[in-house]
Amino acid sequence: MRRTSPPVPVTAPEPLVSLDRVRKSFPLPDGAPLVAVNDVSLSLAAGSAVALTGPSGSGKSTLLHLIGAIERSDAGTIDVAGQRVTGLSGRALAAYRRRIGFVFQRFHLLPTLTALDNVMAPLIPFRTDFDKAARARELLAMVGLADRTAALPSRLSGGQQQRVAIARALINRPVLLLADEPTGNLDSQNGTAIVDLRLSLRDEHGTTLVMATHDPGIAARCDRTVHLRDGRLTSLDSTDGEPGVRVG
Ligand SMILES: Nc1ncnc2c1ncn2[C@@H]1O[C@H](COP(=O)(O)OP(=O)(O)O)[C@@H](O)[C@H]1O
Ligand SMILES: [Mg+2]
Repeated sequence: MRRTSPPVPVTAPEPLVSLDRVRKSFPLPDGAPLVAVNDVSLSLAAGSAVALTGPSGSGKSTLLHLIGAIERSDAGTIDVAGQRVTGLSGRALAAYRRRIGFVFQRFHLLPTLTALDNVMAPLIPFRTDFDKAARARELLAMVGLADRTAALPSRLSGGQQQRVAIARALINRPVLLLADEPTGNLDSQNGTAIVDLRLSLRDEHGTTLVMATHDPGIAARCDRTVHLRDGRLTSLDSTDGEPGVRVG
């Protein structure tokens, strides 16, 4: 039989992110190690926006670092976009990290570079088939900073710095954007920058978003909330009723 066109998927796509019994502990100077992420199993559908909530110290940042392969789990498996992330090393690990975007809690902008150069920084070692500066400008415009491309981070507000960090995280067209809650005195209006962008991210880029946040208002604007306590998943909430999140 001759096939004239590729088969059209009719069922729900594979989850973009799957965690199976993931565990991470940190050694303490004395006594038993601290279990920061404890037996977490979870799947997240492609294109969804997921809020990761829980009290301070509940393991939100550690879980994001594990998914982003910034830290290595002690046990369990993590798969992202069909790739087994746990156990990656060397070139494969570097290649994986380039496929995802990470917005750090403290943004980690380079203080001597302009906003534009900060956004381009992840691409500097690589040859690209597009104009890096043009793409960086486009992203800065998308986050509302078209007129601040030449500014140094020190001349930007906390919210504007977060927007630069978001633009930088998007420069590699990631399938997955991981964002840690901003610390300190970002007002809630600034804190929603990523949530404001999420519809255009999903619609234009298909990006899946996982964001740690303290803010119930921000969590409510995501598709789902995943709640952590003492490193364990305690509850899942779905505001839109879509399937795709499993607790195990
Ligand atoms: N590098 C580390 N070394 C030792 N303990 C850590 C480290 N990172 C996180 N922890 C501990 O792991 C637990 C979870 O931390 P974290 O993931 O930062 O929580 P959250 O982001 O929810 O505030 C906390 O008890 C924290 O002190
Ligand atoms: Mg944290």
